[in-house]
Amino acid sequence: MEKAEGRNQTVITEFILLGFGTGPELQPLLFLVFLVIYIATVAGNGLIIALVMCDQHLYTPMYYLLGNLSFLEICYTSVFLPRLLANLLPRDTPIPAKACLLQLYIFGVLSNAEALLLAAMSYDRYLAICHPLRYSALMNGRVSCQLVGGCWVSSFLLCTIVNIFLFQLQFCDSKEIDHFFCDFTPMIKLSCEDTRTVELVSSVIAAIGAFVPCLLTLTSYICIISTVLRIPSTTGRRKAFSTCSSHLIVLTVFYVTVITIYVVPTANTPKVLNKIFSLFYIVLTPLINPIIYCLRNKEVKESLRKGICKLDAFRNQHRDFRETF
Ligand SMILES: *[C@@H]1O[C@H](CO)[C@@H](O)[C@H](O)[C@H]1NC(C)=O
Repeated sequence: MEKAEGRNQTVITEFILLGFGTGPELQPLLFLVFLVIYIATVAGNGLIIALVMCDQHLYTPMYYLLGNLSFLEICYTSVFLPRLLANLLPRDTPIPAKACLLQLYIFGVLSNAEALLLAAMSYDRYLAICHPLRYSALMNGRVSCQLVGGCWVSSFLLCTIVNIFLFQLQFCDSKEIDHFFCDFTPMIKLSCEDTRTVELVSSVIAAIGAFVPCLLTLTSYICIISTVLRIPSTTGRRKAFSTCSSHLIVLTVFYVTVITIYVVPTANTPKVLNKIFSLFYIVLTPLINPIIYCLRNKEVKESLRKGICKLDAFRNQHRDFRETF
């Protein structure tokens, strides 16, 4: 391959992430902002998991799936944000090439699993709205367990295929990755080998990984909307739709950000813009999911209110107890 000719052939084992390319004066501010976002994301999603696990009113497949989504979001931010924060520290810390590949691998597995889990959630809503009488027969704890397992296993298998190729690559062009995480395209550019096979395999896998869940989700929602529209009364319509409105918002945020990153950018989109788009995808989607469910979903709101009341009662009890002695 002519790419490797006349270049320095020392194999690179470490990368330096260039991050946002801002000067050192902005770094403390960015560090603080991302730290707050990280804590808020973990706390918000942790809260959802706690509610789903503790409140018996939420012991339904819909909320099991939501709890699993929150778990996934915690994993997701934990793959990126600690590394991003480390990158904003004054001392530049290089990242081993294998760790970079591993980050890319986990990123792939998690995004794939998220798309599939969102599809599973729409399937659950489809059954609830379009087949309400058969819902409990068709969807229960076991089925939702199988759906969750299916999401994880299939995304794991898909990404493993790509990564068998990726882990064999050697890098020798440069140490610097002009991004804040180990993204596929910037890494591939640094390889000194023929990358056509990897690129082909990864585009095929990415297309399958994006297309299949998208199609399943779309089909579910087309059925849901056509069923809802056939309900004669407005209140009935609103009631039927209210159980899936939070999910629909989360879904919209997810797909809009995915489309802005992978479809909109062309060769002449500025790099900065690309980074900002990826930031939305990586930072905003996990943060937004618990906010939407806590604000919009009646049952989650109710469960949260009860939880706070209980905590308050507990605290008062404690205080009374202390005061009597
Ligand atoms: C994930 O889903 C399984 C099966 O539906 C459920 O038993 C489990 O509680 C869920 N996990 C969370 C954190 O909600």
